[in-house]
Amino acid sequence: MLEKPDALLLLGRGGLGSAAKNELQSLLQACQQADPGMPMQLAFADRNQPALPEALDRLCAALPAADLAQRTLVIQPVMVPDEPALRRWLQKVAMRWLSEQADHARPKLVFAQPLLQLDGLVPALLKNLAQAATLPDVAAEEGEEGWQTDPVAWSSVPAHQRHVLWCMGPRCVAKGAAALWPRLSQAVQASPPLKQQLMLLQTSCQYPCNQGPLMIIYPEGVWYGMLDADSLVPVLKSHIEGGEACAAHRVHPPPAASD
Ligand code: FES
Repeated sequence: MLEKPDALLLLGRGGLGSAAKNELQSLLQACQQADPGMPMQLAFADRNQPALPEALDRLCAALPAADLAQRTLVIQPVMVPDEPALRRWLQKVAMRWLSEQADHARPKLVFAQPLLQLDGLVPALLKNLAQAATLPDVAAEEGEEGWQTDPVAWSSVPAHQRHVLWCMGPRCVAKGAAALWPRLSQAVQASPPLKQQLMLLQTSCQYPCNQGPLMIIYPEGVWYGMLDADSLVPVLKSHIEGGEACAAHRVHPPPAASD
């Protein structure tokens, strides 16, 4: 017999910009309309927030504290494409989160089958295909003026002197990288010298995940790690404005000088 969970967490990929979050938010709202009594929450594996541990905290806060240990929270991965290795690591994140909960506040945590393996997906796809075949040809759609060309600005390299690479891979996001990104971006926007010099770019995993959140500044090739809300902007300013690498946050030594 099927058992109804006490709370649902939709776990997706963050994508670029706000589109992925908006789309997942719409799915969450549809789920909430279908089951208004069940607490539900979004979480992101990468490039967006909240990360899984923070989302689990929020979901538990929406449940009665007195009997949390009797509750079942289901994490539904809605990641496309699905990456089994990433899901395995996210399960480790969930296990670490569980280990930090007191026994009386430790719910049962379950990962549901990932989206692309759901029963009923193939019939739903076939039904969608049948509906799509009745739609107008793509060339007949209105509202796509200028389809022959792309914006001229997409041919120009923006003015900059340095790249600042900010890792938004899954392990850095689980350590707070997505939550820190607005702080980094706002600090640059608010400072004309920084804005003039820097091109900020989000990246996927840069490999030294245990040192995250991670920021790399080129052309110097200096890697900074273990950044947080207090250290991020001072480390950036010390590097750019003070001309000094912050030794406390460097995650690898500078290259040896050649004779
Ligand atoms: S996720 Fe950032 S270095 Fe791997």
